[in-house]
Amino acid sequence: PGITTDEIDRIVHEACLARDSYPSPLNYCGFPKSCCTSVNEVICHGIPDQRPLREGDIVNIDVTLYHDGYHGDLNETVFVGKADESSIRLIKSTYECLQKAIRICRPGALYRSIGEIIQSHATACGLSVVRSYCGHGIHELFHTTPNVPHYAKNKAIGVMKEGHVFTIEPMINLGTFHDKMWPDDWTSVTKDGKRSAQFEHQLLITKNGCEVLTENKKGKPWWKIQLEVQD
Ligand code: MF3
Ligand code: CO
Ligand code: CO
Repeated sequence: PGITTDEIDRIVHEACLARDSYPSPLNYCGFPKSCCTSVNEVICHGIPDQRPLREGDIVNIDVTLYHDGYHGDLNETVFVGKADESSIRLIKSTYECLQKAIRICRPGALYRSIGEIIQSHATACGLSVVRSYCGHGIHELFHTTPNVPHYAKNKAIGVMKEGHVFTIEPMINLGTFHDKMWPDDWTSVTKDGKRSAQFEHQLLITKNGCEVLTENKKGKPWWKIQLEVQD
């Protein structure tokens, strides 16, 4: 609580430079900052600004680095101070949606099946799945084929093959799945103002399954650590 998302952006920017990397979002299609910070009802692509985070907020930090000619893209949603019950349910379930989707990724799996897994878990948890934004292929380009929808009965093209690299990044809402855009033409928010969470990983399809290129092999996601120390 108290820190601004501009301050988070400065830290991300400096951490990129310290790793001989460029922050991919900066000037991408005119995006003005080095990362996305999406607070509460913001679904994705929130622009860091001068609003201090408040106790009880949730915030997603989406970081992409360009290093040695390739992009690496991930995000997590975390609690700001003490978490309320519905935000815990939202963040935990969204994380589970991503983990369940990762488990089916291997050569021969259909890109369109990712959405079935995610939507069936989200629905079972009483949550909705954002339809306007998808996972994406990524390598020398930030966003490329395949398109990876997170909702059921989608018509995504393609079969996973060894060597494919793409993201899965479900955005899951407490209320309606419908989104609307702020006049800044970047910030996507829920139509009903209820909260939205997201987790993103970047995967490489291997001979027998997949490797999660963006996972922290030693650690846990922040939200789990936060709940352990909370009580
Ligand atoms: N990192 C986001 C994604 O997961 C894209 C951000 S584009 C930006 O695809 F321009 F908003 F930064
Ligand atoms: Co992405
Ligand atoms: Co991202």
